[in-house]
Amino acid sequence: FNVTWDATAAEKGGYEHFMLKEIHEQPKAIRDTLTGRISEDGERVILKELNWTPEQAGAIDRIHIVACGTSWHAGLVGKTVIEKLTRIPVDVEIASEYRYRDPIVSENTLVIVISQSGETLDTLTALRESKQRGVRVLAITNVLGSSVNREADNTIITMAGPEIAVASTKAYTTQVIALYLFACYLAQERGSEGAHQIPDILAGLKGLPELAQKVLQTAPAIEQFARKYADKEDAFFIGRGLDYAVALEGSLKLKEISYIHAEAYAAGELKHGTLALITEGVPVIALVTQDELYEKTVSNIVEVKARDAYVLALTWQGDTAIQKNADEVITIPRTLPFLAPVLAVIPLQLLAYYASVARGNDVDKPRNLAKSVTVE
Ligand code: G6P
Repeated sequence: FNVTWDATAAEKGGYEHFMLKEIHEQPKAIRDTLTGRISEDGERVILKELNWTPEQAGAIDRIHIVACGTSWHAGLVGKTVIEKLTRIPVDVEIASEYRYRDPIVSENTLVIVISQSGETLDTLTALRESKQRGVRVLAITNVLGSSVNREADNTIITMAGPEIAVASTKAYTTQVIALYLFACYLAQERGSEGAHQIPDILAGLKGLPELAQKVLQTAPAIEQFARKYADKEDAFFIGRGLDYAVALEGSLKLKEISYIHAEAYAAGELKHGTLALITEGVPVIALVTQDELYEKTVSNIVEVKARDAYVLALTWQGDTAIQKNADEVITIPRTLPFLAPVLAVIPLQLLAYYASVARGNDVDKPRNLAKSVTVE
């Protein structure tokens, strides 16, 4: 009887890869990121790390969110939620573009940099240049003591814990949580019209860890789909509104670790070019969680089905109508459509994971990618 001690296996806590472990850690990561940031009566956001006066919060008239990769995708969700609650115009910029394009800012601009590692050079440089311009910078990062944390005026730390796999999963969901909290905070401090929704949103946020746990149960169905389609060279992700933001992240995840070429399309934009690439058997993952846009997205599913695509629809539990249009359906438990990205991204992370495993790739260390890019 021989026991070999494998430190890495131990760190993986029984999971075959760090990525799978980190996907499963999301309920806890979400809970930890919320802890201490919602008042006991559920009415208010507490972000002691900001401590802005109502005047400071009220003066902001424009927000630039700057980030790279998955963090940029979290920013896209942030744009929608901040604009919805505060009506402040938000631009989301790729850091390597932002730093070279002489952005229009003023003393009332807020720059939000999002970086899991807090060390990504392009993001850090955008932060430094913003500060030189006299612009206030808020960081959202997972690493306390990182450069981004040290140099920003304020920081909201995500509590995802160490993320080892190159493909970001729990960092993304906690970045999105931090953005919900920040959007609520800003609406609350400014007395925005949208502030009346805060108690509902906070109640929804508190329910997410449990719902995320339920979404993890979709793993076997996702694995089956991933195995069936692992030999495909192309895949499409479609959605509208917040579903489009999540589609972008789902498509990046698949590309990063399975090396399957994937495109995310705003569902209504497909017909302006790419529909020609939808041919028989091409997998299309359609996100349908935004109730206001439901009929519109379904009409786009019908368009791709007419070209014999193989459609996997991601929708709410209880949506039985979708079955007549989709080949397979994966569901997530009900929450506010506004909060759907946190749940909807999980099956897409699992899809990328299982596709990568099925193709025999090095899941945690995909070729040509680094966890943290500290060079240009
Ligand atoms: C690298 C990683 C990505 C990550 C991006 C931004 O490219 O491979 O997973 O999203 O950097 O990293 P950051 O640490 O700034 O969030």
